[in-house]
Amino acid sequence: MNPIVIYSTHRNNTEKIALAIAQAANCKSIKLTKDFDTSSISLDEYDLIFFGTGIRGGEPYVELLNFIKEANLGNGKQFLLFMTWAGGGASNKLAYERIRCSLDVKAQHLDADYFICLGQTFGFTRRGRPNEADMADAKKWAVGKLK
Ligand SMILES: Cc1cc2nc3c(=O)[nH]c(=O)nc-3n(C[C@H](O)[C@H](O)[C@H](O)COP(=O)(O)O)c2cc1C
Repeated sequence: MNPIVIYSTHRNNTEKIALAIAQAANCKSIKLTKDFDTSSISLDEYDLIFFGTGIRGGEPYVELLNFIKEANLGNGKQFLLFMTWAGGGASNKLAYERIRCSLDVKAQHLDADYFICLGQTFGFTRRGRPNEADMADAKKWAVGKLK
């Protein structure tokens, strides 16, 4: 398998998980910034794509949605999702669904087994998350997907 990690982060929580996964999978990671040029990368050589995002108002980040919309996703790749959140209601399910649908539009399938952990928000809320245990869990999850 040839994996890659592609993620969007606003406050670096998702980045911590992204880098942990990239380390565990021994692969490249790409951060989707606001003005990211989707045409600057080709997914041709990759067959396992780990997408990462935080959650904002029950939505995944627009940078990731835009990437999925614009990118040439090819055929026969496996798509996986990891997220960080504040534990807000069903926003994990809403965000997962949103990514699943955006891939569905492009005739791609999102694996149902996503990874999620808490991420620090304002002030003391979820302070210190993701922590070492979260990163270890993410690595374990990712390595399990490489088999
Ligand atoms: C404006 C705003 C809206 C948010 N909305 C949600 C939400 O709907 N559900 C949730 O669980 N967390 C929510 N969060 C928390 C973030 O998803 C969480 O802090 C996440 O780890 C941020 O990831 P990042 O640091 O990679 O950007 C929100 C945070 C902010 C700042």
